[in-house]
Amino acid sequence: MASSKIHIKTISAETTHIVRHPVLRPGMTIESCILSGDELKSTIHLGAYDQNTLLGVCTILDNPKDGPFTVPNGQIRGMAVRSSTQNNGVGRLLIKEAEIQVKSCGFHLLWMNARKGASGFYLKMGYRIEGSEFEVPIFGPHYVMKKQLL
Ligand SMILES: CC(C)(COP(=O)(O)OP(=O)(O)OC[C@H]1O[C@@H](n2cnc3c(N)ncnc32)[C@H](O)[C@@H]1OP(=O)(O)O)[C@@H](O)C(=O)NCCC(=O)NCCS
Repeated sequence: MASSKIHIKTISAETTHIVRHPVLRPGMTIESCILSGDELKSTIHLGAYDQNTLLGVCTILDNPKDGPFTVPNGQIRGMAVRSSTQNNGVGRLLIKEAEIQVKSCGFHLLWMNARKGASGFYLKMGYRIEGSEFEVPIFGPHYVMKKQLL
């Protein structure tokens, strides 16, 4: 699969479940795919498509108060690429588009609670670990990771 064939567009919160469910919530209920803030007007959901097939998703939250940062910031949640498509550049395209969107919103930085297993991906995308590893029940070890954009 050539990543040049992939296009990114905004999608609904519900559409993200197509990829969130098998990749991030396997064996769990479809309701477990609902993330706090999904339905806020300020929330942006991105989908990566090969023609009509949704291959990957990510969500950007305008999260200035709940996040660990005091400057205007966006938080990535629900970052997921179908397992059959991983390591083909889809995640990179989603993050690059998220950064464009975040900059146009005037957010100074983009951050995420990164699963430890995905931290190598975010490091390659230029994100840096902030603070110590922490445990999220059910989902295991995480790091806060961030990238200054403005
Ligand atoms: C993490 C994830 C989103 C990355 O998406 P992807 O489409 O597989 O990543 P890409 O192909 O765009 O990878 C970009 C680069 O990161 C590297 N990379 C991808 N996943 C990696 C990982 N888990 N660890 C280390 N490096 C990784 C790739 O090898 C590639 O490196 P290169 O530039 O040297 O070629 C995807 O693998 C995924 O959905 N994983 C399972 C769910 C998950 O952990 N989501 C994140 C929750 S915080």
